[in-house]
Amino acid sequence: DEGTDGQEPRTTEETGPVVAVLERICEELAPRREGQVSDFIPELAGADPNAFGLAAVSAHGRCYSAGDDEAAFTVQSVSKPFVYAMALEERGLDDVHAHVGAEPSGEPFNAISLDEQGRPENPMINAGAIVTTSLIRGEESRSRFERIRAVLSSFAGRHLSMDEDSYRSEAGTGHRNRALGYLSMAGGVLEGSVEEAVLDYFRQCALNVTVVDLAVMAATLASGGVNPLTGERVISRRTARHTLSVMTSCGMYDRAGEWALRVGIPAKSGVSGGILAAAPGSFGVGVFSPPLDHAGNSVRGVAALEQLSENYDLHML
Ligand code: DON
Repeated sequence: DEGTDGQEPRTTEETGPVVAVLERICEELAPRREGQVSDFIPELAGADPNAFGLAAVSAHGRCYSAGDDEAAFTVQSVSKPFVYAMALEERGLDDVHAHVGAEPSGEPFNAISLDEQGRPENPMINAGAIVTTSLIRGEESRSRFERIRAVLSSFAGRHLSMDEDSYRSEAGTGHRNRALGYLSMAGGVLEGSVEEAVLDYFRQCALNVTVVDLAVMAATLASGGVNPLTGERVISRRTARHTLSVMTSCGMYDRAGEWALRVGIPAKSGVSGGILAAAPGSFGVGVFSPPLDHAGNSVRGVAALEQLSENYDLHML
């Protein structure tokens, strides 16, 4: 088989019962036609609505996938938990949460959800992610974005490229995000330049990933911060726990409650149609299907995770 010649350290398993389950889910959900592909930038509007991929990586580093598992898409909001984790590692829990809350907003991801202290409600919405980005420092030898890219790449276990066109489109049109940045600055919680924080936020959203990348990133969180494929400790066990906690309450926007009920695994979704879900101690899952429901979550992605959670008894409770 091509791709199993041993050169690629992360070759997915071609056979076996897990892949059969993933393939069955892909086949069953492929005919579903609900949802709208995000169209706020042309790079997303042009996505293939039929693209559908599913991957799972065990805490032991076994990798399984089905469907469009090589399709690249921009990570978008799925970057948010990782930038939050980075801020936690650098600044500690109390300092980070002096700048951003930890309550579900119950509002859309781009809403002006600031609490009475001027903090964005949580780090999983745009306002909060722009603030957590602002808390991360650049170094003399490496810009802030390159540091962020390096950490997301360590989570994925390979170097992540950036989609320049998506970045440029967002930089040219993302004035609502700039406004969220300025409101956070007015609240005294955004550090440094709003424009630089927003541009670095757009850059991290434009990193390219596949469902296998998302599954490895999720498995790294599920394994307490150690990438099960590379063996690298990317973040502390404590930071992994904090990150999973915030994903549990705030990762699925205003559907966090429904998600906790039906899927019960910490997760994060993005407007490109990706969902990353991490079942602590057992599995990381990545899904990609561009059509979104009204909350901005991938329709097939949500359905696939409901089935996987049921099938493998992944619900936390
Ligand atoms: O800032 C934005 O609006 C996009 N770059 C990312 C938003 C996103 O993925 C939120 N997800 N549903």
